Amino acid sequence: MNICVIGAGYVGLTLSVTLASLGHYIQCIDKDNNKIQQLNNGFIPFYEPGLAELLEVARKNIVFTSNTVEAVKSSAVIFIAVGTPAQDDGSADLSFIYSVLHDMYQEITTFKTIIIKSTVPPGTCEQIYQKLTELGVSPHLYAIASNPEFLREGKALYDMLHPDKTVIGINDGDTTTVPLLQSIYAGINTAYVITNLAGAELIKYANNYFLATKISFINEIARVSDKYQVDIQHISKAIGLDPRIGKEFLKAGIGYGGSCFPKDLRALEYLIKKEQINAPILHAVQQINDTQINIYVEKIKKHLPHFSEKVAVLGLTFKADTNDIRNSQSIPLIQQLATIGYDVHVYDPKGVIPKNMESLATQHPSLAETVEGSHCLILATDWPAFTSLPWQEIKKAMNGLFIVDGRNIWNKKEIESYGFTYIGVGRP
Ligand SMILES: NC(=O)c1ccc[n+]([C@@H]2O[C@H](COP(=O)([O-])OP(=O)(O)OC[C@H]3O[C@@H](n4cnc5c(N)ncnc54)[C@H](O)[C@@H]3O)[C@@H](O)[C@H]2O)c1
Repeated sequence: MNICVIGAGYVGLTLSVTLASLGHYIQCIDKDNNKIQQLNNGFIPFYEPGLAELLEVARKNIVFTSNTVEAVKSSAVIFIAVGTPAQDDGSADLSFIYSVLHDMYQEITTFKTIIIKSTVPPGTCEQIYQKLTELGVSPHLYAIASNPEFLREGKALYDMLHPDKTVIGINDGDTTTVPLLQSIYAGINTAYVITNLAGAELIKYANNYFLATKISFINEIARVSDKYQVDIQHISKAIGLDPRIGKEFLKAGIGYGGSCFPKDLRALEYLIKKEQINAPILHAVQQINDTQINIYVEKIKKHLPHFSEKVAVLGLTFKADTNDIRNSQSIPLIQQLATIGYDVHVYDPKGVIPKNMESLATQHPSLAETVEGSHCLILATDWPAFTSLPWQEIKKAMNGLFIVDGRNIWNKKEIESYGFTYIGVGRP
């Protein structure tokens, strides 16, 4: 099938490559010419394991271009996967979606199915109908579906090829869009959940909200377990064995980040306030996350009272296996440490410190250079490369003995056996 995917980011590019590998002919559009040029040269503009290799295999089925008009004209199916970042008031910025509609509406002269992959607030697909009507497009010439994406960066391809579910929201009476999408996804084994447009839009927010809630919940319990000398990992393990709870997203640490959870929870909170719905859990989840770093910083200050000393931070990205630093908890952690006066040094296997933070921390190309002469070593991202470190060598290289495990990935007893002081939350 001839398919156009608008937006060549983590979602749009992964979708394009996946669909091309399934045999569809894909025109993948991005307004960022630089990105398109990189893609045409066979270079993936961000780090996502396996994507470059699959693109190589599916290359003959995919075209990268900035020409929305031509691509929409020649495609019956259009996926929109552009960004929907948070605005200052927390609401989702839908301007990228609207700009796509402006770019393409004149090309809706034969029947098109427009599929919204981006995460958008409930009611957005309805607003898209209104917008296209205002622009003079006949509603007989298109159908809209909401088909939110649930992939995880770092595992994006796996998730797209093995989704735990595929959610499709359609209008009442639409009998063609679900079979169409099922034929596009033929070859992918998945459970379909079919609902109305706002239902699909809200499912995406509810999904992220629940996952973020699990993280804030275990972080809250870690604060309690800290006081009672209880190991939070024992609690996570025990309650995670209850199938009604499940073991995922129960790791206490410095909190959640990334391009989705923080912005999606803020967008939901904005809607809830606007609609005057009482939803106290949502606020609490964010409040716990926003204050989680403070707990670590207070402990660091207590152990490291000379505020000009060198601290080494391992990890910039919001999670492992991505170069994405959007809303990474590492950023406010570094900002707080630098504001206190510490000499902050950082290492990440893929993430790069943003220009506006270069005055706050020095990034090094290796872990060894970062750790050298430091008084305290802080783990911010659970990259596999950080799981097992040569503690004897690290001790020799460091100028101090404080190890802060912001992701609960290290063995406290082992670290202490080298003479270090291990600092965590909920790790007596
Ligand atoms: N990143 C994730 O893990 C993830 C997971 C699930 C859902 N989502 C959602 O999917 C959407 C996309 O996220 P992403 O992380 O892929 O974003 P991204 O920022 O990586 O990519 C968006 C791309 O859209 C392009 N774009 C913007 N306006 C355009 C236009 N008018 N025409 C053509 N291209 C345009 C941008 O240049 C950019 O390359 C968001 O709504 C996000 O919330 C993201």
